[in-house]
Amino acid sequence: MKIIELEETDSTNEYLKRLGYCGDVIVTARRQTAGRGTKGRSFSSSEGGVYLSVMRFYEDLPPAETFKIMINSCVAVCRTVESFSVKPEIRWANDVLVGGKKICGTLIENVIKDSGVLSVAGIGINVNNRLPEELADIAVTLSDCAPRRVAEKEVERRLIKNIGSGYSLDEYKSYIKFFGSEITVITDFGTRRAIALDVCTDGRLKVMERDGGITLLSAAEVSLSV
Ligand code: BTN
Repeated sequence: MKIIELEETDSTNEYLKRLGYCGDVIVTARRQTAGRGTKGRSFSSSEGGVYLSVMRFYEDLPPAETFKIMINSCVAVCRTVESFSVKPEIRWANDVLVGGKKICGTLIENVIKDSGVLSVAGIGINVNNRLPEELADIAVTLSDCAPRRVAEKEVERRLIKNIGSGYSLDEYKSYIKFFGSEITVITDFGTRRAIALDVCTDGRLKVMERDGGITLLSAAEVSLSV
């Protein structure tokens, strides 16, 4: 796949959306001036992290199966983190954690076309970047967790290699440790406790409510605290 390497951009996702589709492509940046997270949040993107986005056209991918793109990104990140002797965990739907702290976030933006799905999948991994003080308790870098300091370029190289493979829902679920445990579900309407049961093929999280009822949660509508 073609790779564009930048020193700096506002956001690698935005860069690719401005570029438009002209074949599958990856763009990497050493830093982002306006890194974006999910739900309109920003993503701290100072030098030392790995920031990249993959623009890909998935021919004949039914809209109900776009969660496969998230599976591929998250499992590729987990495989990369593991290759540095660090044990990752997925916090549904799009975060990768180490020791309960966030090491990576993914932002997937899809456009559904008649012939398939045009996707921009952005991945940000904390490697050697200095985390802002307000993230100190909730985020971590790969070099903090690995037996020795790791180089951003090596993380990027392994990640790009791992992104090339397809992964299954079972592989994705094998990195989720909270099944069977109580989690906190945060929505615009309030916060409640529920037991996490499973992730469905469409990406929704199946939970058991306190009254025993089963609910399917969509990642766009809820946040979790585990
Ligand atoms: C999140 O944790 O909410 C998602 C963070 C996604 C960050 C990556 S870094 C590369 C790409 N460019 C962006 O602006 N965001 C994604």
